[in-house]
Amino acid sequence: MSQLLEKYDMNGIRLSSRVVMAPMTRCRARTAVADEQTALYYRQRAGAGLIISEGSQVSAEGTGYLYTPGIYTSEQVAGWKKVTDAVHEEGGKMFVQLWHVGRMSHVSLQKEGVAPVSSVDVAARNSNCYAYGENGEPGPVQASRPRALDTNEIPRITADFVSASIRADEAGFDGVEIHGANGYLFEQFANGKLNTRTDEYGGSTMNRLRLTLETVDALVEQLGSTRVGIRLSPFGRLYDMPAFDDEENTWLTLGRELSKRNLAYVHLSDQKAFINEGIGEDFLWKFRDAYTGALILTGCLTQESGEALVEQGLCDLAGFGRPFVANPDLVDRFRNRWPLSSVDLPTLYTGGEKGYADYPTYQEQRELCVEGSI
Ligand SMILES: Cc1cc2nc3c(=O)[nH]c(=O)nc-3n(C[C@H](O)[C@H](O)[C@H](O)COP(=O)(O)O)c2cc1C
Repeated sequence: MSQLLEKYDMNGIRLSSRVVMAPMTRCRARTAVADEQTALYYRQRAGAGLIISEGSQVSAEGTGYLYTPGIYTSEQVAGWKKVTDAVHEEGGKMFVQLWHVGRMSHVSLQKEGVAPVSSVDVAARNSNCYAYGENGEPGPVQASRPRALDTNEIPRITADFVSASIRADEAGFDGVEIHGANGYLFEQFANGKLNTRTDEYGGSTMNRLRLTLETVDALVEQLGSTRVGIRLSPFGRLYDMPAFDDEENTWLTLGRELSKRNLAYVHLSDQKAFINEGIGEDFLWKFRDAYTGALILTGCLTQESGEALVEQGLCDLAGFGRPFVANPDLVDRFRNRWPLSSVDLPTLYTGGEKGYADYPTYQEQRELCVEGSI
């Protein structure tokens, strides 16, 4: 059997395989609260070694899309508890992805219509969030121009993550993943071209990484280091993230810093599915040297490429996004070399029941075929 499908001890958390369900926003939570359908969707996918939930906003301010389930009220905690109970009943493990979108928001999502916040007051060009348009209807809307956070406000952001991590614990999650990837708040600070701040959160590499590391440290203190992971997307270009001079050094410095902290894992999001430019093997080897703990890699992987990466030692765990949407029994399919179903792209984010918890397992598919042929 390939290493990918063998059990894995993730810094004390025992996983049934190294196959990870990557975080995927599905916009099914009408009132921003996870519900029975959410629980069913994740229960169906609990055969993953580890599930990482869709992004869950740590505050109303951190919201960038309508219908995403948050983690800042007791009602939301109760909703998530249904989900973790379902996953645990099936023997699975689940982390919640803690999310603050920063400037990838819209005034219609903010309390009293104020501007979203970021490192600087620069809008993400040609970047849509999902909010209320001018006609009051939900839909894709250009992200609003943010305001720059004052230095003395920044500890509040970290405090919101701490509160969310306390709620995550109450909701029964095995751990939390900080969403430090894909152009959202932490990247808006880490990016050396975008972030032109002159206080201790801008300028030098360590200054640009300060918010990320302060938040990691605060969550480590709250939950213990082995229940904290973080997702990063080195060289990410999503949502108007520009290239910058110190780029490779920034991510390797962060890798070295995280290495000192004995985390559950670092999760690299390779954006090649969306921007045609990957992280690249050269950088991956360098990152592997810089960060010595458990490493998850996600982005356009197949069973074969995931197995090869793990065998080569380039990562410890392989993440799968879209394949998990369409194949709730993905690990069974890998084990048995059964064919995979393809994802229905139009229903990825649409909010309805279709394309959510209605994808059959391979066995169910076969039964449907047999019934259909009688
Ligand atoms: C529908 C959808 C929603 C996503 N939502 C998130 C998210 O909430 N947080 C995140 O970090 N990445 C998100 N991603 C990125 C995925 O986690 C993953 O990195 C990406 O799909 C590439 O992996 P894949 O080729 O296996 O699908 C999303 C991707 C898709 C397709």
